[in-house]
Amino acid sequence: MNVLITGASGNLASGVVESLEDRYELRLSDVAPVVTKHQFVQADVRRRDDLIRAAEGMDIILHTPAWHGIHLGSRTQSDFWELNVDGTFNLFQAAVANRVPKVVWISSMAVHSRDNIYGLSKFVGEELCQFYHRTAGIRCIMLRPADFTPYRNRKHYAERLLHGGVDRRDVIAAAVLAVANETVDCEAFAILRQDPWTPDDVQEWPHDPFAVLERYVCGARRLVERYGLSLAGRIGTSDITAANAKLGYEPHHNFITFLRELAERDALGDAAEWLQQR
Ligand SMILES: NC(=O)c1ccc[n+]([C@@H]2O[C@H](COP(=O)([O-])OP(=O)(O)OC[C@H]3O[C@@H](n4cnc5c(N)ncnc54)[C@H](O)[C@@H]3O)[C@@H](O)[C@H]2O)c1
Repeated sequence: MNVLITGASGNLASGVVESLEDRYELRLSDVAPVVTKHQFVQADVRRRDDLIRAAEGMDIILHTPAWHGIHLGSRTQSDFWELNVDGTFNLFQAAVANRVPKVVWISSMAVHSRDNIYGLSKFVGEELCQFYHRTAGIRCIMLRPADFTPYRNRKHYAERLLHGGVDRRDVIAAAVLAVANETVDCEAFAILRQDPWTPDDVQEWPHDPFAVLERYVCGARRLVERYGLSLAGRIGTSDITAANAKLGYEPHHNFITFLRELAERDALGDAAEWLQQR
């Protein structure tokens, strides 16, 4: 099976390449040259002909390039449109021209916030997926990850796991499952972390978060206080039922798994240093 991965040197795609390379014939593509043992085609997704060339002979395209939330202050609306929307249109033009039957398209949970150009670009991108599914029969799996941007250090990573974050490794696993999936025709999936919280935990948290954490990790309060972790004011639950049922997505990382790892590091005596690492 031949898989084209666009934006191949990016945060998500580079991890997906490592996970797929033993099972698929990979062709990588990016706007700038990439040193790789795989086939590589330099392609700017804003240029349709580049993508048509890159997609030749492919069975699946995993499409990742986009300006995203962190670029909202530094990139113009035109930049967002050209890369995120025109780039996606060109992707489908290339898929049609080369009769590529399946696309895995990386959307975002920002698709729900259409009052900024990023969210709008993801909404339009998903509409293009639906359109090309209806009109050209291309199977489209759209993944909507939460925030997995690189973190400053492990403390930052942990704190994000109580807000809108999801572990990059879980997002990579979701993309790998989407590439392998043979049953979904055209559907979008929330790719979120899975927390263990019960409804009682969610209610109790704003009054006594330590009581909640101690139910899962003995000594949680001491760890949080000792290493100066800031806790969110509230917690909630997330729904990954569809991704679990249809893709087999089972995220492994959340604040509790992090705290357990921190407890192990604490016992070894190198937790403070470990928390400062990326
Ligand atoms: N990072 C997050 O937290 C997050 C969250 C939700 C959704 N997403 C989505 O996931 C996808 C991947 O995100 P990421 O963080 O891995 O992105 P990234 O910024 O790390 O990588 C993007 C890649 O696209 C390439 N690229 C840029 N312009 C290009 C062009 N004109 N032509 C071809 N390639 C080009 C870049 O060189 C880079 O390799 C994006 O679609 C993003 O919107 C990201």
